[in-house]
Amino acid sequence: MRIGKLKLNSNVIMAPMAGVNCTSFRLICHEYGAGLVSTPMIYANNLVARPERVIKKTCFLKKEKPISVQLVGADTENMKEAAIIIEKYADVIDVNLGCPDRKIIENKAGGFFSKHPEQIDKIVKPVIDNTNKPVTAKIRTGWNGKSINTLKTIKILNDLGVDAITIHARNVKQGYSGKADLNEIKKAKQTSKVLIIGNGDIFSPDDAKSMIEKTKCDGVMVGRGCIGNPFIFKRINSLLKDRKNTPEPNGKDKKKAFFKFLNYYEKYENNRNFTEIKQHAMRFTKGVSKNTRYNLTKTKSIDEIKNIYEDDLR
Ligand SMILES: Cc1cc2nc3c(=O)[nH]c(=O)nc-3n(C[C@H](O)[C@H](O)[C@H](O)COP(=O)(O)O)c2cc1C
Repeated sequence: MRIGKLKLNSNVIMAPMAGVNCTSFRLICHEYGAGLVSTPMIYANNLVARPERVIKKTCFLKKEKPISVQLVGADTENMKEAAIIIEKYADVIDVNLGCPDRKIIENKAGGFFSKHPEQIDKIVKPVIDNTNKPVTAKIRTGWNGKSINTLKTIKILNDLGVDAITIHARNVKQGYSGKADLNEIKKAKQTSKVLIIGNGDIFSPDDAKSMIEKTKCDGVMVGRGCIGNPFIFKRINSLLKDRKNTPEPNGKDKKKAFFKFLNYYEKYENNRNFTEIKQHAMRFTKGVSKNTRYNLTKTKSIDEIKNIYEDDLR
C-alpha cells in the first residue's frame, strides 16, 4: 500500500494509542510486522508551546520508521505550526477527528469535528498546506446514532486532499460499546477516491481478513488487539499475504517479546517510568495464569518483574 509517496511493506497499521504507544512498544510492533506505527495523539498546542519537551517525550527512533505522528487540535495557527515542527520526524501526519475524551471535545478538538464536519478544513488544511509529508485523518462515523455522517466527512476530506482516511467505525458517543459498523467502512470505500483504512474490533487475523472482505478497505488498523500482543501483525500479514494461519503465541514467545521490549525500554526511553513498564508486563501476560498476573501487580522493581517472567513463562 502507498500513502501518498510513502510505500508501506504491509497494509496492517498500528493504531495511535495514548498511554500505550511508547517508543519501545512502537519498535516492537514495527519488528513484528506493522506496516506503519503511530505515536499517541500529540496536542498541537503543547507541541507549539514546548516543542523540545514533546519531541523528547515522544522519543523518535530511526529504527521504528515509517511512523505516523498524530496531531489533535482546534486552532488553525497551532495546527500549522505543529505540522511545521513535526514534519522532520514524521513520515505521515495524521489528524485526529474522533477522540471522545471529554476534555478534548470541550476544547473543540478530536470528536468535536464529528459534530461539526463543516469545520474540519480549519485544522486539516493548515497541515496539508504546510508539509510535504502525506497527511491522513482519523474519524469516527458521527457524533451519535442519530447523526451518522461518515460519507459527508469522507467527501470533505477527499476535497481537502488528504492521502488516506482511517475510520473507527463507531460514533463518538458509543465510546467502545457495541460493534464497529463495517457497513460504514464499506460505503466510505465505495465513494472515496483516497485510501480507506478500516478500524475497529480487529482482535485476530480472521477479523482483519473479514473486514477487508466485507468492506474492500485498502488497509486495516489494529488498536486494542495489539496491546501486549505485537504478534498479531505478523499473524495478520501471514494470513493476508501467504494465506497461512499461524498459531497464537505461547508463553515462550510472550517472554521473548517482553524481554525485547524491556531491553528497548531501558535503552531508548526518555521518559522512563516503572508504572509504564509494569502495565506492559501485565499486558504481555494477558491469558497467562491469574496467579502470574496477580504476582505482577505486587512488583516494585524491574528485577521482580523479570523473575516472575523467568519462572512462569517457559
Ligand atoms: C488506550 C487507548 C488509547 C487510545 N488513544 C488514541 C489516540 O491517541 N488517538 C486516536 O486517534 N485514537 C486513540 N485510541 C483509539 C484507537 O486508535 C482505535 O481507533 C480504537 O481503539 C478502535 O480500534 P480497536 O478496536 O482496534 O481497538 C485509543 C484507544 C485505546 C484503547
